[in-house]
Amino acid sequence: MDHLHFPCFLGKRVHLGITGSIAAFRALELLRLLVGLDIQVSAALTEAAQQFIRPLSFEALGASPVQRGMFQGEDPFQHLEPSHVSDCMAIAPATADVISRLAHGMASDLLSCQALAFRGPLVVAPAMNPAMWAAPATKENWKKLLDRGVIGVAPESGQAACGDTGQGRLAKLEAILAEILKALAPKDLDGKKILITFGPTREWFDSVRYWTNPSTGRMGACLAAAAWMRGARVTAVCGPNAFWLPESVERIEVESASQMHQACQELWPDMDMGCLCAAVADYRPKPCADAKFKKRNAPDGFELKFTPNPDILKSLGKNKKPDQMLVGFAAEAVDLLDNAAAKLESKNLDMIVANQVGRSDSGFASATNAITLLDRAGRRETWPVLPKTEAAWKIWDALLQL
Ligand code: C5P
Repeated sequence: MDHLHFPCFLGKRVHLGITGSIAAFRALELLRLLVGLDIQVSAALTEAAQQFIRPLSFEALGASPVQRGMFQGEDPFQHLEPSHVSDCMAIAPATADVISRLAHGMASDLLSCQALAFRGPLVVAPAMNPAMWAAPATKENWKKLLDRGVIGVAPESGQAACGDTGQGRLAKLEAILAEILKALAPKDLDGKKILITFGPTREWFDSVRYWTNPSTGRMGACLAAAAWMRGARVTAVCGPNAFWLPESVERIEVESASQMHQACQELWPDMDMGCLCAAVADYRPKPCADAKFKKRNAPDGFELKFTPNPDILKSLGKNKKPDQMLVGFAAEAVDLLDNAAAKLESKNLDMIVANQVGRSDSGFASATNAITLLDRAGRRETWPVLPKTEAAWKIWDALLQL
């Protein structure tokens, strides 16, 4: 989840509402994630929530203030506090009961009052028994909230605490966190359609072996998450990787360079921007067997023949329309800037992100990157070694300035 760890939320304030569900303990982890991003968190626990988890746990993990009920604090206006100081309010887990109270504008407890008075973005992540979630009353209440602009993080399917199976489990913390961060982020990429490639490619040469590289996809996952938070409509064409992305990011999973090429060719005409950071194999081995290649067929070793793969970035650059922007990456061990400048030109790019490979704090499988940015306007800027999250955020900043 550290690919969502963007460092630009310092000083933002989130008010966390916790209601009476067995999933209430997961709000503690959510609190830790938010605090880890330097976000100031306050919390309000309903009476039922306090049957599952104690306010003290929230205090111990850095929430302040932690409110327990309408007439239980020193501040007579604690029901209005979030509306005055918080940038976002999030209720996780949200029971059927609190969803009903919100839908009907009830102000019968502290948390409902706070939600009613809150004018900023409200994120609601339900958790309840599947039958309660499927009940017509809950469905209607939920629809009302969504129609009003509440940011809903729908529950997941699986086995509930009671043993019943169906939809009702609290959503993944990544999904809740991402929606909160999105609510806090600037919307300077609002509505932009952005194609992002990332991850390695796999080129199979028999039924059990492939040719690949050590890319994990982290840089592209950070770029995709950052663009999504800033309002873009992101399509990610990605090779095998383990990074979670929000459901509303269209994710097209591919393996080979040819599959990635085909997907990108189809998508590109409809895009505003492309950011291609996949580590595409330049060559693919010719398959040497239909099934598994057997040792007995080549006791003294064997040779693989390689064929060139399509250069996806170059082909998009060739078909780039004047209102489209294209960003490429250059991973080089030597002559980084000369090579990057040549690629900026030859692939008809607007920007190229040059990063050094062959060192532990940059390139493949590293959480940080040493980047020099070059663009068509002549900008050449070397950044200090940065977490890939921060680098991704700055790449979009730079592109918006171009
Ligand atoms: O020419 P080179 O492979 O170094 O260029 C790297 C850039 O080109 C990266 O942005 C990479 O995603 C892209 N690329 C591509 N298709 C290839 C090879 C690289 O899109 N076959």
